[in-house]
Amino acid sequence: MRNIKTKRRAPVDLLHPRQTRTKVASMSLKEVPSDHDFFDPAYVKQWTDNIIRYRPERQQLFKVFAAEAARIKKAALSVFELGCGPGFLAEALLQNCQIVNYTLIDFSPQMLELSRSRLARFKDRTVFFQLDFKKNNWTATVPADFDLVVSLQAVHELRHARRIPKLYAQLYSLLVPGGSLLICDHVNSSLPYGHRAAHFMTVEEHLSAFKEVGFIRAREICPAADLSLMAAEKP
Ligand SMILES: C[S@@+](CC[C@H](N)C(=O)[O-])C[C@H]1O[C@@H](n2cnc3c(N)ncnc32)[C@H](O)[C@@H]1O
Repeated sequence: MRNIKTKRRAPVDLLHPRQTRTKVASMSLKEVPSDHDFFDPAYVKQWTDNIIRYRPERQQLFKVFAAEAARIKKAALSVFELGCGPGFLAEALLQNCQIVNYTLIDFSPQMLELSRSRLARFKDRTVFFQLDFKKNNWTATVPADFDLVVSLQAVHELRHARRIPKLYAQLYSLLVPGGSLLICDHVNSSLPYGHRAAHFMTVEEHLSAFKEVGFIRAREICPAADLSLMAAEKP
C-alpha cells in the first residue's frame, strides 16, 4: 500500500468559502449541507484554479489511478467517470493509459464545459453526460459496458453516507463482468474520534459496502491525507 505524505494546508480555505451557509435538504434523510456551489461559474473557476495547491496529494493520486488502470489486462479500456469536475483525472488517464472510450458525468454544466475544453484533444474518445447521481434512475441513459469505473472526490457529494451503498450498486451495474472500480474519496478515520462527517465513511465501511453489492477483492490502494483510493472488482 502506498502512503502519500502531504504539505500543510493553505491557511485560508478558499474552496469552502461559505462555511456558515446552510442548505436545507428536502429529503427525509438529513443531508450534510454543502458549502460548494458547482453551478456558480466564479466558484467553479476558483475551485479548478486552486484545488491542486489546496490538495497537492492529488498529483500523486493521478499517477496511482493511471498505474492501477494500466494493470488491467485488456488492450484498450472503456472507462466511466462519476463526478468528473473539470476533467483532471480524465486527462491523466487518457494521457497515460490505453483507452478506447471515456464517459464522463457531472451535474454541473460549468464543470462539464471546463472538462470538454481540457479534453478537447481527446474528443473522438470522450462522451459527456449532464446527470445527477443522486437521482434514482441516473444510470438509465448510460451504456453499461465499462471495463473501469473511476471517481475522485465526488462520492461524498451524495451528502450522506447512507446513500453510498446504493451508488455502489449502480456503479456495479455499469461494469462488465471482470470490470474494475477505483474510488477515491474523503474518509473518516476508524478511530472513535475520527468520525468527522456524516457524509463520509471509514475505509472499512467503503470496503464492506463494495462487498455488500457484489464486488470482490475490495481493498485500499493508497491513503493520501484524508483521502483514500480504494479498489474492487466485479466477478
Ligand atoms: C469536489 S468536485 C471533484 C471533481 C473531480 N472529480 C476532481 O476531483 O477533479 C465534485 C464534483 O462532483 C460534481 N457533483 C456533485 N454532486 C453531484 C451530483 N449529485 N451529480 C453529479 N455530479 C455531482 C460536482 O459538480 C463536482 O464537479
